[in-house]
Amino acid sequence: MQQFNIEKVRQDFPILTEKVYGKPLVYLDNGATTQKPQAVIDALTQYYATYNSNVHRGVHFLSQKATDAEEAARRGVQAFIHAAHEYEIIFTKGTTDSINLVAYSFAKKYVRPGDEIIVSEMEHHSNIVPWQMACEDRGATLKVWRMNEKGVLDLADLDTLITDKTKMLAVTWVSNTLGTVNPIADIVAKAHQHDVPVLVDAAQAIQHLPIDVQALDIDFLVFSGHKIYGPTGIGVLYGKEKWLQEMPPYQGGGSMIKSVQFSGTTYTDLPFRFEAGTPNIAGAIGLHAALNYVQDIGLTAIAAYEHELLVYAQTQLAAIPGLRFIGEAPEKSATISFLIGDLHPFDVGELLDKQGIAVRTGHHCCQPIMDKFGIPGTIRASLSFYNTKGEIDALISGLQKAVSMLS
Ligand code: ALA
Repeated sequence: MQQFNIEKVRQDFPILTEKVYGKPLVYLDNGATTQKPQAVIDALTQYYATYNSNVHRGVHFLSQKATDAEEAARRGVQAFIHAAHEYEIIFTKGTTDSINLVAYSFAKKYVRPGDEIIVSEMEHHSNIVPWQMACEDRGATLKVWRMNEKGVLDLADLDTLITDKTKMLAVTWVSNTLGTVNPIADIVAKAHQHDVPVLVDAAQAIQHLPIDVQALDIDFLVFSGHKIYGPTGIGVLYGKEKWLQEMPPYQGGGSMIKSVQFSGTTYTDLPFRFEAGTPNIAGAIGLHAALNYVQDIGLTAIAAYEHELLVYAQTQLAAIPGLRFIGEAPEKSATISFLIGDLHPFDVGELLDKQGIAVRTGHHCCQPIMDKFGIPGTIRASLSFYNTKGEIDALISGLQKAVSMLS
């Protein structure tokens, strides 16, 4: 099944040889952020050491070189998600920034009092709050697409939720908390039957699944660089040209203008109209290196290996007395949320930490999910293709130790 050399892969990530409290690091918090391969670290160092300069502003050699590298990164993203045009790729600070951009700008153009926006119950706060703010601003209503007890959305519900007032469906592809992989092709097709555009939060999908925005006919797709082995502070908004061309700018400033007079300003073309100010040049270059790295390994191989790890981990976890999974969708990414008896997730997380095992505990920026299950939080192990079955074994024995200390 495994089509890459796991030992070689692990050598590509220098941090994986670190020790925590004198114990080998077992990093199982990839949903929060992923570690960086040497290729990304080198790309950042090379940029700052040899051609650091501002972009789209200078005729000098370094500025041209930095501009070329940033625009090559844009084409790299375009190819990675199979967008039709490079100007449909907007660089942002991250997923949150991308969603805020769309929520503000799309709503300003298209949402009127009485209109409706739909989000699912399993969204991260970043795909809820910007829409709440947009609804408040526009006099619109936010509607919630509920999930069932396994953490699965029912497509048929959309037929009743969507009305002729619905202006947008914003939904995650993969839940950061439950691991649920939503059937995005079917969701987009269903929404489009009702002429409703779809924003897909791919923050937890981009690093696990091959993505083709044209084949799926996605209207907006957003993700962060740091979840796909790239730097923090860089993200992507993909938008279909037909929407982006009509949407007003989100922020004003340098780079996004054609001409500025005190009597008025005209705005420049895509993608720069949505990229006011000096962009995160190093971030874009680092992201490009990360996408190239992932492409060299192959997302299909990554997905297959991560699935193998998921099954291995779930089987072992299920044998721990009193353990219950939160999120039991049939289609899952390698993200596992669970609770053990009445042990508080923070206590378990702290005891794992002391054994060198990094997991996330808490509500994972998804309070509505916690409310749904009536729990304060979960323990979450989120796996990556550089994790091993040996690390899962370490998690299991770490949990057994934590349970015996806390019981
Ligand atoms: N959204 C990130 C997570 O799920 C931070 O941990």
